Amino acid sequence: MLTQNRLAIEFAGISFKNPLILSSAPPTMDARHILRAARLGWGGATMKTVTHEPTVDPRTRLGVLRMNGKAIGMNNIELLTRTPLSTWTKDWLPKIKKEAPEDFVLIASIMSGPSPEGWTELAETMSRTGVDAIEINVSCPHGSPEEHMGAFIGQDPSLVEMVTRAAKKGTDLPILVKLTPNVTDIVPIAKAAAKGGADAISAINTLESLVGIDIETATPLPIAYGGNRSEQLSTYGGFCGPAIRPVGLRFVSQIAKALPEMLISGIGGIEDWKSAIEYIMVGARTLQVCTAVMWHGFGIIKPITEGLIQFMDRKGYESLESMVGKALPKITSWAALAKLPPIAARIIRENCTGCKKCVTACVDGGFTAIQMREKVAIVNPDKCDGCGLCAVVCEDNAVEFIHLD
Ligand SMILES: Cc1cc2nc3c(=O)[nH]c(=O)nc-3n(C[C@H](O)[C@H](O)[C@H](O)COP(=O)(O)O)c2cc1C
Repeated sequence: MLTQNRLAIEFAGISFKNPLILSSAPPTMDARHILRAARLGWGGATMKTVTHEPTVDPRTRLGVLRMNGKAIGMNNIELLTRTPLSTWTKDWLPKIKKEAPEDFVLIASIMSGPSPEGWTELAETMSRTGVDAIEINVSCPHGSPEEHMGAFIGQDPSLVEMVTRAAKKGTDLPILVKLTPNVTDIVPIAKAAAKGGADAISAINTLESLVGIDIETATPLPIAYGGNRSEQLSTYGGFCGPAIRPVGLRFVSQIAKALPEMLISGIGGIEDWKSAIEYIMVGARTLQVCTAVMWHGFGIIKPITEGLIQFMDRKGYESLESMVGKALPKITSWAALAKLPPIAARIIRENCTGCKKCVTACVDGGFTAIQMREKVAIVNPDKCDGCGLCAVVCEDNAVEFIHLD
């Protein structure tokens, strides 16, 4: 008999009833939001990041990237919590711990500057509130770097090591270090966090971006309105949502391969049970979600957890732990792949609807290896280079690949 606790996982000495955590963002802006999520079954929540002083935000501060009308990514120019630190420490965090189900994991999120004292002090303050762990935010890509905070620290391994050590000094709680994807190579940064004593790494925060331009008014998005509506300005912000998942998967897998002992909380475009499993299979043990909740509400926890269990049942995975890193051994070097023997595409006749998308793609973007015969696409294996373009454009799952030797 399958039960919900098959989703239980140990992470940094904490027992999670399921791996799904709200990431630090608007859905964790106050006690009311976090408690609502806790009651709906989320495994935990990371509060909206606090620093020593509350921050202010532009309005509007969210922009969207749509593909054929469907939102696939979002950019934000929001900063940290606008609520005083004392409201969090004296009121909200103790209240959440008191009123949320006992097994709900509460993570504090803190940010300070490039000197150690502020981190130690904030970590100390947070550990007196009853939270279960502390995430240190060295990854916000806008607003903070100008103040030598956020991604300014997260792009420098020596600063990451220093602030991680400083936060550890202030607390006995597990420290998660939340990294930025706005770096060329995340491995030295992850190693620096490990050297500083990180108990886990959270990856990734948002990608620095300019989400689009309103071409009618030549205004970059999102539009921050001034005193009157004609004053319209913007700035670079952080991109998130399903569109950044490939970047998150890349960074999580690279950290997992370089630091096999490091615990990882995967973040970036998790929207359903499938994307949750993708992160687990590249080495994440917990998962943090922001955009999907902002778009669809806390209720997504139900289909995600149900989908996870159904998948585990179908594939015979006993526990989440048994899926962790399953895909990692199959990530190798490009050089190793180029030596593999040749293959060619083959059309699965029963699935082919004769739409000709693969024919067009193969003529103009490939090797002119596909033509139509009796309303079904057919591949000439002598011309096919096995590039995979036909499978990319096929929406009917009608392409498979065969070895030529
Ligand atoms: C509006 C907004 C505000 C955010 N604020 C914070 C923050 O205060 N601290 C933080 O660590 N991350 C913050 N994030 C980043 C998210 O926690 C998360 O890392 C990122 O959005 C990627 O996850 P997603 O693709 O599920 O949204 C924010 C994201 C958004 C969209």
